[in-house]
Amino acid sequence: MEVEIAGLVRQLTLEEKAALCIGANAWQTSPIARLGIPSLTMADGPHGVRKEAEPGMLDAPSLPATCFPTASALGATWNRALLQEMGVALAQECIALGVDMLLGPGNNMKRTPLCGRNFEYFAEDPYLGGELVASLIQGIQSQGVGACLKHYAANNQEHSRGAIDARVDERALREIYLAAFERPVITARPWSVMCAYNRVNGSYCSQHRHLLTEVLRDEWGFGGFAVSDWGAVHDRVAALAAGLDLEMPGPQPDRMEAVVAAVRSGTLDEAVLDATAARLLAAILRAAAVKKGGGAIAVDAHHALARRIAGEAIVLLKNDRRLLPLLGDEKVAVIGRTAREPYFQSVGSSRVNPTRVDVPLDEIRKLAREAQIEYAAGYAEGGEFDQTLHDEAAQLAAGADVALLFVHVPPGKEGEGGDRPDLEMTEAQVRLIRAVADVQPATVVIVNGGSAVAMADWIEAVPAVLMAWLPGQAGGGAIAEILYGVVNPSGKLAETFPLRLKDTPAYLNYPGENGTVRYGEGLFIGYRYYDAVERDVLFPFGYGLSYTRFDYANLRLSAPSFRDVDGLEVSLEVTNVGDRAGQEVVQVYVRDREARLQRPPKELKGFVKVALEPGETRTVAISLDARAFSYYDPARHAWITESGDFDILVGASAADVRLQATATMTSTQKWPSLLTAESTIREWRADPRGAAVLQGMMAQAAQFVPGGGEGSSSLERWLDAAQDFTLPAVLRFVGSALPVPPEMIVAWLLAQVHGEESSTL
Ligand code: BGC
Repeated sequence: MEVEIAGLVRQLTLEEKAALCIGANAWQTSPIARLGIPSLTMADGPHGVRKEAEPGMLDAPSLPATCFPTASALGATWNRALLQEMGVALAQECIALGVDMLLGPGNNMKRTPLCGRNFEYFAEDPYLGGELVASLIQGIQSQGVGACLKHYAANNQEHSRGAIDARVDERALREIYLAAFERPVITARPWSVMCAYNRVNGSYCSQHRHLLTEVLRDEWGFGGFAVSDWGAVHDRVAALAAGLDLEMPGPQPDRMEAVVAAVRSGTLDEAVLDATAARLLAAILRAAAVKKGGGAIAVDAHHALARRIAGEAIVLLKNDRRLLPLLGDEKVAVIGRTAREPYFQSVGSSRVNPTRVDVPLDEIRKLAREAQIEYAAGYAEGGEFDQTLHDEAAQLAAGADVALLFVHVPPGKEGEGGDRPDLEMTEAQVRLIRAVADVQPATVVIVNGGSAVAMADWIEAVPAVLMAWLPGQAGGGAIAEILYGVVNPSGKLAETFPLRLKDTPAYLNYPGENGTVRYGEGLFIGYRYYDAVERDVLFPFGYGLSYTRFDYANLRLSAPSFRDVDGLEVSLEVTNVGDRAGQEVVQVYVRDREARLQRPPKELKGFVKVALEPGETRTVAISLDARAFSYYDPARHAWITESGDFDILVGASAADVRLQATATMTSTQKWPSLLTAESTIREWRADPRGAAVLQGMMAQAAQFVPGGGEGSSSLERWLDAAQDFTLPAVLRFVGSALPVPPEMIVAWLLAQVHGEESSTL
C-alpha cells in the first residue's frame, strides 16, 4: 500500500496535489480522474448520519438515518461495549448512504455547562470521554468506515468560536483538553482529526504546528489526516506547513493557486505537500476498498439499538419513597409538550433526519396496560407560559394517581452556534412544576436537555426526577421503559450538575473579553474543582440511582507497593442486594497524597459497568497503568511519575466513595534536577540531590562564617530565614567572608547536582 501511494504521489502534478488537499464541494475531496483517484465522501456526525440528499450542497435536506442519543447522553451510559455497537451501526448506515467518513465523534471537555455544544460532547473528564470515544471510533472503523475525532482542541464554547483565543496553561492543556484526544488517537487510531475553529494560546488551531504536528503526529503517532473544521482555515499555506492536510469545504480556486505559488516560490517545501497528498490518498484508497451506497438502513434494528442506548443513558436523579417504577395500573396525568412533541436532538451540523420518532405519550400508553392516561400540554411552545394550559395541567394532575411532567431546555437556548445564557429552563415550566407538585405528591419530572440544568429552585418539591438528555429518536420509548421498570436505570452523570451557575469553575473566566478567554481555573474543571474547594453541588459527577442497590466489598490491590512501569491491579466484589436485575458503574479514582505540583483531590482513572441479577456477586478488576498516577510537568514538558503513596478510591460517584486502599509507587523515571542558579533555597532543599549538595557546602562554608564552631548552625539559620531567596543572593549576605564570589560557589554546586566531576572548590 505504501509503495502504491508513494508511486501515486510521484505521478501527481503540483496542481493536482494542491487540488487534493481542498474539498471539491461541501463534503467530498477532489477526485483525480486521470489517475482513477475517487473522492472521499464525508458527512456529519456525530450521533447519526447527515447525508445531504443533494451531494455537495452545504445545507440540503438530509436523507433519513437513525438519530442516536447525543453525546452527553452517551457519556452517561459509561458503557464501552454499547458505544462500540453504536459505532458499528453508524458505519453500516454510512455504507448504506454512501459515506466514507463520519464527521465525529467530538470529545471536547465540558469546561462550562453553558457551552451550546455540550450536547455533542461526552464528559467533564478526559479519561471517561476518551474511553467512550475510543470505543465508538473502534466500532465505526471496524466496518471500514472512517471516524473523524473533533474539534481539536479547546473548543469549549460557541461564543466567538471562530476567533476566540483560548489561553490555557500547558498543564491544563495536557491533562484535560489534549488528554481527551490523546487516548482515542493512540488506542483507536481514527482516520482523521478535525481541527477546531478557535485559537489556542495565540494560534488558530488550523495552523497550529505544535498541536497538529509536534503533539498529534510526533508524540501520539497519529497516522491519519487532519481536516479543517468547515471554514476554519485562515491562511492555507501556513495551515499546510503546520500539518493541516485537508481544507473543507471547497472548491476555493484561489486557495489552490496560493499553494501552487507557495511551492513555486519556495515558501512551501513541496515535500510537505507530498506528505499531505500521501496521507489523503491512504484514506481515499482505504475508503474505496469498501463499496458504499445504494443499500438500505436497518431501520428497526437500529431504532431498537438507539432505544437500548437511551435506556442506559437516562439518569434517575431522585426517587423518594421509591415512587418509580410505576406498576402500570395507576391513573396517570402526562403533562408537558415534550411528551407529545419530543425534544430529542439539537440544532446545527449534527441534526439528523430521523427514520422514525418515538413519542413518549404513545410509549407510556403502550406500557400502562389498561390504566387511564390523560395528557395536558401544560405550557405553550418553547416552554412559554399560558394560563389556560397551566391551569388545565394542574387540574389534570390533581385528579390522577401520578403526574409525569415533561419539561425541557427550550430549543434554541442550546445548540451549535450559541451558548446558553444560563442553566434555567423557562419560568413557565418551573411554575408548572410547582403547581403540579402542590396538588400531586406523586410527581415525576422528566427533563430533556443537552447539558446540566438548574434544579435547585424546584427539586425539593418533587419526589422523582429523570434526566433524559437529548435521547435520540427512540428516547420516548426508553423513557417509558424506565418509568415502568422494563429497564432499570443505570446511567450516571458524566458532568456535574451545579447548584448555581456562579458555583461553576469557569464562571469568572467565561466567555472572555477582547478576543481572549483565559482558562483561569487551570486543570480544576468539573469535579476536580468542586472537590478541591469542597463546594456542594446538586448532583455530583458519576451519580445516578437504580431501582436496585449495590454493595461494594473486598477491595484488593495487586501489591502494596509497585513500580510505575508495572502498574497496579484493583479488584473488588460488587453485589446486587436489591430485588431487580440492574447495572452498576464502579468508578476508580486515584488520589496522590503528596506531589511536587498541586493535584486535584482525586481523578477518575478506571471504571467498569457490571450487570448483576438480584443477589448476584461479581468480582470486577480494573488495571491502572503508569499514566493513572502521572501528572504533566510543564517544567519538563513531560508526564511525570513521582514516587509516593496513592489512595485508590472506589466509588459509586465522585461523592460516594465506598472503598479505599493505599499503595506506594516507585518511579523508575530518572529526571535531571531542575535546579538552576535562579532556584530558591526552598527548592534546593526540596530537591534530593540539591539538599545533599547544599548540606555538603554548609559544612565547608561554616569556617568562613563568623562565630567559630557555631558557624554551621548560624549559616543554617541564615538559610532558614532566607529560604525564599536564591542561593547566590543568600551567599551575598555572607559576602566578604567567603573566599570566592557566590556565583562561583553556585556554579560549583550546580555542577555537582548535575553530576559533573568536581570535588573541591
Ligand atoms: C461543525 C463541525 C461539522 C462541520 C460540517 C462545522 O460547523 O463545527 O462539527 O462537522 O461544520 O458540517
